[in-house]
Amino acid sequence: MVKMMEHDRQRVHNLEKVLEASEELGRARSCDEIAEILAARYVDIIKATYSSVALLTDYGKSLQLRAMSSIRPLKEKKRLGLELPLDDMPLLKSIINRRDDILVETGNPHSELNDKERELLLTSSTKSALFPPLLAGDKPIGIIAIGEERRQERESFNKNKIKVAHVLARQAGIAIENINAYMDLQDTMDKLQKAYLAMIQQDKMLAIGRLAAGMAHEINNPNAYVLSNLSTLQEYAADLFRAYDNARRLADKYASSEEIKCLEQIERELGIEEMRDDYTELMAEVSEGAKRIAQIINDLRYFSGEGEKQEQLLDVSEIVMNSVNVIRSHLKHKASIETDIPPLPPIKGNRALLGQVFFNILLNAGDFLDSEKFPHNKLNIKGLEEAEYVVVMIEDNGPGIDSDIIGRIFEPFFTTKDVGKGTGMGLAVAHDIVRKHDGMIKVKSKPNEGTQFILRFPKASEKKDNQA
Ligand SMILES: Nc1ncnc2c1ncn2[C@@H]1O[C@H](COP(=O)(O)OP(=O)(O)OP(=O)(O)O)[C@@H](O)[C@H]1O
Ligand SMILES: [Mg+2]
Repeated sequence: MVKMMEHDRQRVHNLEKVLEASEELGRARSCDEIAEILAARYVDIIKATYSSVALLTDYGKSLQLRAMSSIRPLKEKKRLGLELPLDDMPLLKSIINRRDDILVETGNPHSELNDKERELLLTSSTKSALFPPLLAGDKPIGIIAIGEERRQERESFNKNKIKVAHVLARQAGIAIENINAYMDLQDTMDKLQKAYLAMIQQDKMLAIGRLAAGMAHEINNPNAYVLSNLSTLQEYAADLFRAYDNARRLADKYASSEEIKCLEQIERELGIEEMRDDYTELMAEVSEGAKRIAQIINDLRYFSGEGEKQEQLLDVSEIVMNSVNVIRSHLKHKASIETDIPPLPPIKGNRALLGQVFFNILLNAGDFLDSEKFPHNKLNIKGLEEAEYVVVMIEDNGPGIDSDIIGRIFEPFFTTKDVGKGTGMGLAVAHDIVRKHDGMIKVKSKPNEGTQFILRFPKASEKKDNQA
């Protein structure tokens, strides 16, 4: 009777431990954590001398040892991470492929398991073992080994222990399924967020483009009056000066000396002669200014891609110069800009999108150049031709990019700017546009010396029709 009660107490105790283990598995956040919990709990609950967990890797072609536990300190811990091809382990492979709840008890592991299988999952002193497969839903993901050093006929792997082994393996499978589902969800969320922010960036550029086109249109009309009225004004002023000179000649001939003195007094007070000199200079400046406004309007329209066909033959030098012109005033107190861009062979693409690429790179140079070093700051833009490519190089002598982050600058959302200052999408968008044009973008940089972006676009003649 006493013995019976003791047995029942033991069962309740074990049940509590199984429940505890299953809660622990439910809280786990990674497959490795699950493997560790399993290995430890089998030793604890089943009183196995040793337990290990191997997970499938290499697209299911190999098994890798991920966790081990033992009632004694393990000498063989160094095997963790050991990976062996499944094809070399026929017994483990057949257990995994059966995907059912079969538990294998090896009366004599030496005879049934080959050396690789033993090496992977057992200790040298294991005499018998159970191998519950690890399944996530229907999908095999690994295998568990629960080992005994000595074969204790009565105690070793009785029905209850097999049941517990089975329940825990199932629980672990469910926990792994949950983790996978959670990771898939996280992955989908990440992709969605990236797509969303890329869309915002593209939308932002489109909105800026539309705003630029709208402003250009609004300024264009009044500026057109200014330009045309200016030449009329110049003619009128020239007529007026001529009329004045004629009147002055007549006065010299017919007026009294008193009247001429009076006239000279008025001339001095009004500064007629200075007015005549200044006038030509002022008119030239006003006309220059109005022409510059017309050029800016042109650039803005060009930049916005107004009325643009999606893809056409383009002169990269024109696009680069346009982006430089748009950004010039922004960089006025930041850097001196030098350009060396000869006319280049045409490439095939979208003008507004390519403009965005150069604009984003130029904008970055401006963002990272320190205005306090102004007269020293340089921005060099070069265009050249290679065998199959049109090449544009944009180089600054700013702070450069550290070698440990240079590999990440084209990643979406990668930024070293302060929070709220940059989205980290400028270069990601540029990279995407270049890729869509079958081009390449490279960066070279030395900290404290500067940064160089090198862009290559296939010449239109080199681009196959089906790639366009
Ligand atoms: N010319 C440059 N000099 C130094 N670092 C640069 C330069 N261009 C890019 N970088 C580095 O690359 C990172 C990513 O640039 P990207 O244009 O993608 O984003 P951002 O400029 O930080 O943000 P946003 O473009 O949204 O303002 C920058 O934060 C910076 O660390
Ligand atoms: Mg940027």
